[in-house]
Amino acid sequence: MEGSEQQEMLERWERAAAGWGKRAERVRDSSMPVSAWLLDHLELQPGQQVLELAAGPGDTGFMAAELIKPGGTLICSDWAEAMLEVARERARELGIDNVEFKRLELEWIDLPTASVDAALCRWGVMLSVDPPAVLQGCRRVLRPGGHFALAVWDRPERNPWATTPGRALIELGHAERPDPDAPGMFALADPSRLKELLEAAGFAEVVVDSVEAPRTHESLNAYIEETLDLSRPFTEVYEALSDEEQAEVRLQIEGLAGPFLEVDGSLRFPAASLVAAAGA
Ligand SMILES: C[S@@+](CC[C@H](N)C(=O)[O-])C[C@H]1O[C@@H](n2cnc3c(N)ncnc32)[C@H](O)[C@@H]1O
Repeated sequence: MEGSEQQEMLERWERAAAGWGKRAERVRDSSMPVSAWLLDHLELQPGQQVLELAAGPGDTGFMAAELIKPGGTLICSDWAEAMLEVARERARELGIDNVEFKRLELEWIDLPTASVDAALCRWGVMLSVDPPAVLQGCRRVLRPGGHFALAVWDRPERNPWATTPGRALIELGHAERPDPDAPGMFALADPSRLKELLEAAGFAEVVVDSVEAPRTHESLNAYIEETLDLSRPFTEVYEALSDEEQAEVRLQIEGLAGPFLEVDGSLRFPAASLVAAAGA
């Protein structure tokens, strides 16, 4: 990916921050099984220094911040300033005071070597242009014996909540099929490759698992509204369509979401995340 494409990705995340802030509570609640797995495997202790990378609104790290009290500090990081601002606001609301905020890129973790006891990254590494460099960087900033835990999305077939809106756009000719090898949601969905990448970065005792965390929505409308808040790729195409075309997209999504419709009109989609833990 060229530098200008990286810049475009960053700008997209800057624009996504408001929607992610609005949906932070929902994302935190529906993702709890994944966060619980990550926190369990970090084996946090009071007094530790913990780094969260690509933190977005920051909720997983904020749970870690509670577990390292007293004396411990969380570094909450993201490359998008607007996302860090959302995280600052969430920390204020939640009364989290043992946290520092830092703008950090996954590919260039500007922290001293062996400076943190634990690091975590939920749904960030697969977005990077260079996952091997990210994982090497994570190991570098961990002290020897420190713990690392990450989540990346499992295969697209296991995550119809995420693929349905994009599929509707593709089927109606409004978008191209995504390149499966490009950085993106499903770029690290192969558990063997994830394990190999962690081992190649020098991590020991690598464990990879899959955690289910279904996504529920009270109606089709609520599902589409949430997608518009969280998915810039979908929103950018959708907002450029005419009213008539948007109505067709909504109908197409309704058809594709049929198998996940409950009798009361709500939607319940399966969702699965790969999770991994390792020692530095
Ligand atoms: C899918 S969101 C996940 C946010 C949060 N970790 C969560 O689980 O809710 C991805 C986050 O990664 C950040 N991000 C994407 N690429 C990044 C990079 N190269 N360096 C640092 N942050 C990045 C985005 O700004 C965004 O906040």
